[in-house]
Amino acid sequence: MQQLLQSFTIRKPLMVKKLTNSEKHLITRQAQSANADTHHHPKEKIDQLNELKEHIYGDILEVFGGQGNLTDYYEKLGKVTSLTKETTGDSFNYIYKLRAENKLYDVIDIDSYGYPSKFFPVVFEMIKDEGLLVFTFPVLGVQCVNGIVEQHFINFWGSARPTIGDVTGVVTDHALREWKIASLFSVRKIKPIWRLAFLVRQEKATLFCNVRNR
Ligand SMILES: C[S@@+](CC[C@H](N)C(=O)[O-])C[C@H]1O[C@@H](n2cnc3c(N)ncnc32)[C@H](O)[C@@H]1O
Repeated sequence: MQQLLQSFTIRKPLMVKKLTNSEKHLITRQAQSANADTHHHPKEKIDQLNELKEHIYGDILEVFGGQGNLTDYYEKLGKVTSLTKETTGDSFNYIYKLRAENKLYDVIDIDSYGYPSKFFPVVFEMIKDEGLLVFTFPVLGVQCVNGIVEQHFINFWGSARPTIGDVTGVVTDHALREWKIASLFSVRKIKPIWRLAFLVRQEKATLFCNVRNR
């Protein structure tokens, strides 16, 4: 036993080169463009969608549809419009074309790289009376937060380090502008992202205001 321990202690540790942040970033980008499951986590995302299945039907909008890991799933449950860089270009722009055509959806899924901030509040103008909103939000601490990202958080999410509670508060406020109630229904942490799902319900404005239309 003593000999065995010694053989471990005298062995020199292997020299492993530590990757720089830009090398790590490059590896991530390459895995993302190769549609690697390790970076898109389709199985975990679909596990969560399976729990939401009774709310998935009708017209489904996928923003940042990518190479279709979730599209195949959604197509079994409804009529899917999938926005991809290759077909509809930049989803941040294209969503306003659909908005201008007064398109409405039962389900909207925003599976962006980075933050979904710029899709609010427009998604609440495009979701039907009883809808489901699912979106990806990178987990803080995994992503590198520099001054610009921090200011982005303050501008869009009201905090330099937004929690799920902060995100839920902002989403709820955006929904209320359209007289909709967005209720947080499901949260999954999948490696470096959260997937948040909200049930969205239209209400009469009069209910919020305690006034009657004459
Ligand atoms: C997180 S992946 C998700 C894809 C898909 N939901 C899935 O699970 O396979 C995001 C995808 O959006 C694409 N993308 C990146 N920037 C985009 C943009 N500005 N507009 C539309 N798509 C974009 C990426 O190439 C990538 O395929």
